[in-house]
Amino acid sequence: MIIQASNEKGGGTVGGEKTSAGDIASAWKTFISKAQITEVVRPEIAHSWQRCHQAGVDPFSGVSHLILSRDQLHALLTKKRNLIDIARPFMSNLYRFVKGSGFIVMLSDEQGYMMETIGDSETQEKASELNLIKGASWQERVVGTNGIGTALAMAKPIQVSGAEHYCKKVHSWTCSAAPIYDEIGGITGALQMSGPSCKTHQHTLGMVVAAVKAIEEQISIKQRNRELTLLNNRLNNIVLTVSDGIIVTGKEGVIEQVNPAAEKILGKKGPEITGSLIRDYLENAAKIEELLDLGKSYKEAELQVTAHNGSVPCLSSGKPIRDEHGSVSGAVIFINPLHKIKNLINRFSGAHATFSFKDIIGKNKQLLKAVDLATLAAGNNSHVLLQGESGTGKEVFAQAIHNHSGRRNGPFIAINCGAIPRELIGSELFGYEEGSFTGAHRGGRPGKFELASGGTLFLDEIGDMPIEHQVALLRVLQDKQVTRIGGNKVILVDVRIICATNKNLPLEVAKGNFRQDLFYRLNVMTITLPSLRNRQDDIPLLFQVFFREICQKNGIPVPQADPRVISTLQHYSWPGNIREFQNILERMINVAQGQEIGLEHLPEEIVSYRPPSGSAQEIMPPSPVDHLKNNKIKIKELLEENERQDMINRLLLYHGNVSQVAKEMGISRTSLYKRLKRLEISMK
Ligand SMILES: Nc1ncnc2c1ncn2[C@@H]1O[C@H](COP(=O)(O)OP(=O)(O)O)[C@@H](O)[C@H]1O
Ligand SMILES: [Mg+2]
Repeated sequence: MIIQASNEKGGGTVGGEKTSAGDIASAWKTFISKAQITEVVRPEIAHSWQRCHQAGVDPFSGVSHLILSRDQLHALLTKKRNLIDIARPFMSNLYRFVKGSGFIVMLSDEQGYMMETIGDSETQEKASELNLIKGASWQERVVGTNGIGTALAMAKPIQVSGAEHYCKKVHSWTCSAAPIYDEIGGITGALQMSGPSCKTHQHTLGMVVAAVKAIEEQISIKQRNRELTLLNNRLNNIVLTVSDGIIVTGKEGVIEQVNPAAEKILGKKGPEITGSLIRDYLENAAKIEELLDLGKSYKEAELQVTAHNGSVPCLSSGKPIRDEHGSVSGAVIFINPLHKIKNLINRFSGAHATFSFKDIIGKNKQLLKAVDLATLAAGNNSHVLLQGESGTGKEVFAQAIHNHSGRRNGPFIAINCGAIPRELIGSELFGYEEGSFTGAHRGGRPGKFELASGGTLFLDEIGDMPIEHQVALLRVLQDKQVTRIGGNKVILVDVRIICATNKNLPLEVAKGNFRQDLFYRLNVMTITLPSLRNRQDDIPLLFQVFFREICQKNGIPVPQADPRVISTLQHYSWPGNIREFQNILERMINVAQGQEIGLEHLPEEIVSYRPPSGSAQEIMPPSPVDHLKNNKIKIKELLEENERQDMINRLLLYHGNVSQVAKEMGISRTSLYKRLKRLEISMK
């Protein structure tokens, strides 16, 4: 029998001559009896024999006595399940080639514990005589030089045949084994093919080495797959949870995937969307064509997205997906509804209302009536006109109405028509498109109407709105849509308008400063706020609350106050109303520097104030006589309109209960009915 049994160069031949099985057998005898190595023994076998000798392995045994318990074996098989699953098909394949020739294929862990064997049953039986069975260890130091044990000790493939085995009982075997490396370069096991020593052939080792290479390849593919799966899961989670709508298309624009955010924007479920064309959903086709045909990305473009219930203006970005050759194979498109972005802007730009009804201080009858009306207004969506002198709380009321309405989660946008330069009012209200005037921002800018969509727009000082902008405002109120200056796209806006003015609007109409049609449109519900001079009864309460608030704000203890101070304050005219009242209190607290507040701390103009004798204190400034003359009829009409509005408000307040309204007005029911008839208010 010729042994050509190594992958090492020169293996199987010594000095150019073939080594016979008989030579090895006598060399083995020499080593066992005299511990001498003869030159017919290959160096790797010689080294192994020496290791076995040193470890005191019994050369006449060769039966493994290091065997795992059932539980230990179970734990090992569980731990190595991945390797076993990968190796098994390769082992079966190997075995198919040698089936019936007395060979078995075995898999061990990195310590030589057998984990899996496939083979002819007779050979398996013979193997089990040596405890070459599952759970038994075939390390060198247990059973001497052998395929698996020596391959693991050398960390290299090896074939061990006949008398090359250190132990006599294994001399009838030929074993070809190779260690299996894992993806990070550590040994994770070994594969062996064993059969009768008379069937020794160097190709056997080649087959084992090839199988091991394939197993290692499979291990690394599996590992890469695992990593890819993890990465994919992670990416999927991101796609599922981001608030941007994401649409993935193929090369031709067929939608392949959408995330839940996109489903929400489009108002349809994934399966209804996938398979259709992206062009059916995005209106600006040019951007999409460029993206898919030329691979040109776009960023933050305003597109109309066709949702199930109409079109939704969105901010969109798109990026091509390229294959390994760099050609476009699809696209990822992000969509984000503009109203969501506007809400975000509003949140960060402080466009929200802070006051609510509970912040409104006062027990005055007129004030409470205003609060009741405002509460009523909060419940519906109609436009509100707040009338009152400066500082009477018009903005406070506007915010409270907003916060009490169904729009409380939407934006509250305020714009002071009196404080913005005439020429900017238009662009502030309606926005503009890029390039519509010099100094216009790139990409244009939304106006207050757009920003307030879904919420409330507070038009302060509406009486100061230049007449030329009033038509445009009226049109927006009628059509509920705006077109940006320099643009042609119609944008739907859903806005509740609250206006405020300290002017006598009917008079402004009479004077020709305010459009009558706009006045009627805004004057759906008018709430008049009493001036402070008409709320003397509230001054002690206001004093108490603001006094404490100001001290707290300044971090100082609340000082005592001379009661005469309050009565003096009650008799002042308060042209600046609550705002002035707050300022005066603050000044007094600062001047008094913690001492009791006395008359000496009051500003001169208040102490010396004397009301003009006989003048009835009016809510609105008296109207200029010449205008009255010119516009007599108009004014009569408008005053009547005011009265009418007041009556409607009262009826609304008492839910149409005529007796209560009459009682509150101090008139009889009959006179009330007469008045209703004159004002053309019918009670249906
Ligand atoms: N009824 C009220 N209760 C409490 N504070 C008020 C009241 N009315 C007005 N204020 C205070 O007065 C200030 C001015 O009110 P504001 O609403 O701006 O007046 P207007 O818009 O009528 O000029 C507010 O900052 C608020 O603190
Ligand atoms: Mg104001």
